[in-house]
Amino acid sequence: MADKVLVLYGSYRSDRMGVRLADYLVTGLAARGAQAELVDAKAVNLPMLDRMYKEYAKGAAPAPMEALAEKIRTADAFVFVTGEYNWGPQPGLKNLTDHFLEEWFWRPAAIASYSAGRFSGARAGTVWHGILSEMGMVVISSTIAVGPIAQTLDIDGKPIGSGGEALQKAFPRFADDLAWWTEAAREQRARKAPPY
Ligand SMILES: Cc1cc2nc3c(=O)[nH]c(=O)nc-3n(C[C@H](O)[C@H](O)[C@H](O)COP(=O)(O)O)c2cc1C
Repeated sequence: MADKVLVLYGSYRSDRMGVRLADYLVTGLAARGAQAELVDAKAVNLPMLDRMYKEYAKGAAPAPMEALAEKIRTADAFVFVTGEYNWGPQPGLKNLTDHFLEEWFWRPAAIASYSAGRFSGARAGTVWHGILSEMGMVVISSTIAVGPIAQTLDIDGKPIGSGGEALQKAFPRFADDLAWWTEAAREQRARKAPPY
């Protein structure tokens, strides 16, 4: 059974760069047999958080929120692609994420960070670790950190230069780690219902 992996990305900027990394990850995971799908917060376009998904009566949530809830509920794993704004997570991705809670539970999550400079968004990645733990995901220890993104991936998400080479080298371990935990979590959910 192919792993259903959602790759979540949340920059709303017109000149956004991180979509290159999101595309790279979707392509790379799909090449390994996963059913990988990009969730682009800008395209989903949820409003600034008012009511969480669970605060709507059954069937009354706006259609894009309902569709995303179903995708999250049925996914086997998540990859969060996070840039860094002033040492913190990007608000578009955080806003999308905060609309849900129980829908995220009992699955592994991986963090891929990036930035325009050499710190590769590592500070935002560290913040995401705590956020994802609070939201019931098990955060795997392997990370991907890309910087400077413009010198690592071209506009089509293809690796370039020495940064691209380093990314190609790092990706298999990251994907293996995620796949291992994905299988472990799926088998455990099938063996024993989650406690809450
Ligand atoms: C508001 C803002 C704050 C930023 N803060 C940081 C930062 O703290 N650290 C960093 O390495 N890069 C920072 N950058 C540069 C981003 O890493 C770079 O613009 C990146 O491409 C942003 O992701 P996006 O293009 O997908 O929106 C910042 C950029 C913006 C627009």
